[in-house]
Amino acid sequence: MESVVISLGGSIISGDPLNVKFLGEFCREISKFEKKTRFGIVVGGGKLARNYISSLRVLKVNDHVLDEIGIHATRMNALATATFLKDVNHRIPTSINDAAELMNLYSYTVMGGTEPGHTTDTVAALLAERVGAKKLINATSVDGVYSDDPKKNPNAKKILRLSHDEAISLSLKGSIGAGPSVFMDLTSLNIAKRSNIEIYVIDGSRVSEYGNILENGKTSGTLISG
Ligand code: UTP
Repeated sequence: MESVVISLGGSIISGDPLNVKFLGEFCREISKFEKKTRFGIVVGGGKLARNYISSLRVLKVNDHVLDEIGIHATRMNALATATFLKDVNHRIPTSINDAAELMNLYSYTVMGGTEPGHTTDTVAALLAERVGAKKLINATSVDGVYSDDPKKNPNAKKILRLSHDEAISLSLKGSIGAGPSVFMDLTSLNIAKRSNIEIYVIDGSRVSEYGNILENGKTSGTLISG
């Protein structure tokens, strides 16, 4: 059975309030593939994480503590996602190894972050590597990778295909002065490169994208491959 990991960006599900309509549609869409696919779903922190982190950062709270708070937010969103699925874990794993073991037991394994110092993109790449998944879907709020931040530069061009090395250069360029404009963090791209994992960067709110990728590897987003 094929394993697929989805990095479900928190911004897609965690607005104000929780985007239950999307979660219902997303879970219905991927469940069409549950007979042939095992899913690892790594959920981001979204607004929940950002609200806490930005309020406390101005008070100069230690970054490690802020990351811990962010991780709690991701796990809360992961558990919320689990309530929309059957044959899924309801105890959120705190390590990649534990999540990998759960993937042998359930059709769907949901998790959030693991430890401070990275984001759920890296968790998703590590999980994909650990379980031998060759497809990682990065569900974001932008419909692919752009030559520049499309929210700031109207002339930014969408790039349909990239090699891992090209994606790494682009992420490096964007990560100077770090911020949400980076489409995926560097560590996750390096892990994908070393284990030859294909990454689909998609507008995660477009539910049909998941079906197209799972059915025939087609995407209107960006495919990053070796
Ligand atoms: P996200 O993975 O959602 O961060 O985790 P992000 O990519 O910055 O958020 P989006 O996708 O743009 O909305 C939220 C926060 O939780 C902490 C980090 O502080 C991160 O910014 N975190 C998450 C960790 O420290 N470790 C993890 O493994 C995951």
